[in-house]
Amino acid sequence: MQLANRTAIITGAGSGIGRATACRFAAEGACVGVADINDAAGLETVAMIEDEGGTGCFVHADVTVAPEVETMVSQTVDAYNGVDILVNNAYVCDGDDILTIGEELWNRNIRGCLSTTLLCCQAVLPHMIDRGKGTIVNIASVNGLLGLGEEAYSAAKAGVISLTQNIAVRYGEHGIRANSICPGSIQTPAWTAVLEKDPDLFNRLSKWYPLKRVGKPEEIAAAALFLASDQASFVTGTNLIVDGGLTAGLKRMGEELVGEGTE
Ligand SMILES: NC(=O)c1ccc[n+]([C@@H]2O[C@H](COP(=O)([O-])OP(=O)(O)OC[C@H]3O[C@@H](n4cnc5c(N)ncnc54)[C@H](O)[C@@H]3O)[C@@H](O)[C@H]2O)c1
Repeated sequence: MQLANRTAIITGAGSGIGRATACRFAAEGACVGVADINDAAGLETVAMIEDEGGTGCFVHADVTVAPEVETMVSQTVDAYNGVDILVNNAYVCDGDDILTIGEELWNRNIRGCLSTTLLCCQAVLPHMIDRGKGTIVNIASVNGLLGLGEEAYSAAKAGVISLTQNIAVRYGEHGIRANSICPGSIQTPAWTAVLEKDPDLFNRLSKWYPLKRVGKPEEIAAAALFLASDQASFVTGTNLIVDGGLTAGLKRMGEELVGEGTE
């Protein structure tokens, strides 16, 4: 049990990576505050945790709204006498390109990914500073590392990596660690609508991955567990890329160039 006697808040825990992380943390002994804007989805995650003998409670929160974030943290702190771990996972991703994106859409992405991370950190940090310990895991994206389109989302995710580094250097002396994770493509309900229109997408996408597949939510949960646990006691300010090798290099480019040259 890597997280026995710990309390974790996980945002966006009603689906995908957040749900997998909530279930994994609970299986490792954590009491989990399952935060989501979608009550039915969040309650389903709590039921999944309890079915496996774990402990979790649902906290309704739209993490773009500061008072709801404050309530999310105070409810979890009251229920479990403190908070040891925060996983910022909830997000918004509305794509458009640089010339056409309007200010409203830009702000929606920055708010939904980056400002939410700031708000949640601001709400938990005083509790962590008081206790002289705590760990934060921010879910960023490979979109925050290189140009893949979805400009506003990508800029927000790059900001999440920077914010994480600054939390790490500013609050390390209080025993607080902060790290980010950059997932590659992960098969979650976030892809449902796209896959309905283009059922072959993951097959084509998989070819770009050195491991020849997209990832599973449980694989990001495992990375989050490592960073949140004492296994990572000397790891802070880092960005863990969990992308099946996608961003490691451009071997496929070389193969295509050679192929084109022999045509
Ligand atoms: N799935 C991928 O391919 C992928 C790749 C890279 C990064 N990520 C990142 O992983 C994280 C999770 O993605 P996912 O694919 O599991 O998403 P998902 O759509 O499956 O789940 C997101 C959850 O967040 C909740 N949510 C959305 N806005 C919220 C808000 N304002 N307040 C509270 N809850 C809110 C939703 O209700 C939902 O339950 C995101 O930060 C995303 O950027 C995902």
